[in-house]
Formats: sequence, structure tokens, C-alpha cells
Amino acid sequence: MTILVTGGAGYIGSHTCVELLSGGYDVAVVDNYYNSVPAVLDRVEKITGKTLKRYDCDIRDRGGLERVFSENKIDAVIHFAGLKAVGESTKLPLLYYENNISGSVVLFEVMEKYDCKKIVFSSSATVYGNNPIPYKEDMVTGDVSSPYGRTKHFIEQILGDIYKSDNGWSISLLRYFNPIGAHESGLIGEDPNGIPNNLMPYISRVAIGKLPQLTVFGGDYDTKDGTCIRDYIHVVDLAKAHLCAVAKILDTTGIEAYNIGNGVGYSVLDIIRAFEKASGKKLNYVIGDRREGDLPAFYADATKANKELNWHAEYDIEKMCADSWNFQKNNPDGIK
Ligand code: NAD
Ligand code: UFG
Repeated sequence: MTILVTGGAGYIGSHTCVELLSGGYDVAVVDNYYNSVPAVLDRVEKITGKTLKRYDCDIRDRGGLERVFSENKIDAVIHFAGLKAVGESTKLPLLYYENNISGSVVLFEVMEKYDCKKIVFSSSATVYGNNPIPYKEDMVTGDVSSPYGRTKHFIEQILGDIYKSDNGWSISLLRYFNPIGAHESGLIGEDPNGIPNNLMPYISRVAIGKLPQLTVFGGDYDTKDGTCIRDYIHVVDLAKAHLCAVAKILDTTGIEAYNIGNGVGYSVLDIIRAFEKASGKKLNYVIGDRREGDLPAFYADATKANKELNWHAEYDIEKMCADSWNFQKNNPDGIK
């Protein structure tokens, strides 16, 4: 059984490739290394002792994708490839629409041409916007606050239309909450280029001394300690959810959305404390202004994924922080 993983050299993609290879699947990866490096895939092979097929290819490159499908019998696709920086997307919306939406359309067209109609798509909790918490899959989505979020919402809608037009498709929309942590080998983890936007890589770089100080975005929210609440999930738990989703789509047709989160909300200060405990380091931080577009609090109701995908998150916040730190400590200059 061969799974095509777009964006497989990225943070979540690489952890998913490890689980797929360990689970006995053959894996082909398509990545243009815009936000990753090929060495990540060497490390995936080192962890698993297995090899995968690599294609240095952009998902907007129809000819390149057709080559992948003609050289391999692809049974299903896990589609991670995309740009994901919320702030950047407000400045460069066309880049985000072109890369994420046009790229996805090319991928879906090539899948249709090669009669591969099974896909797991990386969506995001951001599609819920201002809904009451916890978020549930049957809530109305689309009230999003950034072009990035809109690309996720639009691609979900496009996949919905594809299914309506052809009930032979089998589609799983995984709405991720906040992935953190790393593989416990310390070989792969989150390794963003430049200054990180997200909390955990920022914290890790402050702890290792590469950045001077963390700014906590807002201390005056109506939450237990004034800082924002999020549902953090270990990236390995998230990766495993993809295997559950693949097993389901290989067996069925239809389109279903699933929340992939722990169902527990932690504040930014909770994360700082847990990280300090896991790393034994005192973090230098200040409370600053709110970041535009941040919601005060959200977390998942993951009951549907628990029941229908038979998926359960295993790892707690201590393990998430310990593994993030282990990765940072082992790779102070990132993956080269
Ligand atoms: P990442 O940037 O680490 O991985 C994405 C990978 O896709 C990278 O390796 C990048 O080089 C590749 N890529 C980008 N555009 C491409 C293109 N046109 N053609 C081929 N490859 C391309 O990001 P990640 O954190 O692993 O996220 C994976 C997916 O999950 C993304 O779609 C992201 O939007 C989604 N997601 C991430 C989060 C998060 O917090 N990390 C939350 C919700 C959803
Ligand atoms: N935060 C800080 N300081 C920082 C970075 C973040 O205080 O330097 C805070 C944020 O204000 C937020 C929390 O840490 O309260 C988490 O922020 P992240 O940027 O790590 O994550 P977000 O919740 O903003 O965004 C994540 C994903 C997006 C996705 C969104 C909703 O990165 O892709 O969840 O699913 F769209």
C-alpha cells in the first residue's frame, strides 16, 4: 500500500512519514523544500530503518505530480503541502491563495486523472473562527481571520464539492489544534526558518539562548491567568491520527471532518511553566500587547475522532515540552 505524502519533509509530515513507514506502508514524498530541508527525510529513514521515495517537486507542477502518479500506484494521499504563517498571509494573500489553493486544485486534478480518490487533508481549528468552545465538527465554519485560514476553509469546500460531484471519493478533513513536541529520538522536530511565529519554537530558541526573550502576547484576556488558552497536541499523537484516517478512507467513501486535539486548554503561562520544569531552564519572558487576530481561548471536542477513527491522544503537556526541548538541545542550529 503506497501513500503519497505532500509536504512530507515538513514538521507534521515528517512525523507522519515515520508512523507510516513503521506501520508497514510504502511512502512517496513530494516537497519543494520551501520550509524544510531534504536532510529531514534522511532522518526519517534513520529512525525507521526504512526508505521512502522522494520527489523534489512543487504541487503546482502538474507534470512533476503526474510523474509521481505514473511511477507509483498511489493508494491514498496525505496532503500537508502548504504555507502556514498566519501573519505573512495577511501581507501576501495572493501567494497563499496560489500556493495553497491552486496547488491543491492541481493535486486533486492529477489524483482524479490517475483514479486515486482517497485523501486526508491538513485543515486547521482556525476554520471555526468565533464559535463557542469547545469546537465541534458540526459547527458552521468559515468565519476566519486570515487569508491562511481562508485557504483551509476554501480547500475544505472544494473537497466537499468534489465529493458531491463524485461519491467515489473518500475524504478526511483533519482539523488540527496546536501541534508541539517532537519525535523522542530528538532527530526530527519543528525547525522553522527565521524567527518563529509559533509559541513552542519561540520558547525553545529562548531557552537555548538563540533569542533573548519571549513576549507573551497579552496578559489581559478574560481567562484564568489573563493569557490565551489553546489545545496543544503532541505531534506524534497528531501523526498517528493520520494513520487512523488513512485506514478509514481506504475502507469507505464519503467526506468527514475530525478535530484532532487533546480537548484540554492550557494558557501561555501554563506552557511556560511546563517547559521550565521539563528543561530545568528559567525562561526570560515579558507580558506584551495582544497579537492582532488571536482568539482568547479555543480547544477541541475530539469525541468524533475518538469514536469514528478510534484515535486517542496519549501524551501530556510534560511530554510535549520535554520532547520539544530534547529536539532543540540536540539540534541547536536546526537540521542541516
Ligand atoms: P511545514 O511548513 O513544516 O510543512 C509544510 C511542507 O510543505 C514543507 O516541507 C514545505 O516545504 C512544503 N510545501 C509548501 N508548499 C509547497 C508546494 N507548493 N509544493 C510542495 N511542497 C510544499 O508545516 P507543518 O506545520 O508541518 O504543517 C503541515 C500542514 O498542516 C500545513 O498545510 C499547515 O497549514 C497545516 N496545519 C499546521 C498547523 C501547525 O500549527 N503546524 C496547524 C493547523 C494546520
Ligand atoms: N504566543 C505568544 N508569544 C509568541 C507566540 C505565541 O504569547 O511569541 C501565544 C499566542 O498569542 C497564542 C499562543 O501563544 O495565544 C499560541 O500561538 P501560536 O502562534 O503557537 O498558535 P496559534 O494558536 O496562534 O495558531 C495555531 C497554528 C495556526 C492555526 C491556528 C488555529 O499555528 O496554523 O493555531 O488552528 F491556524
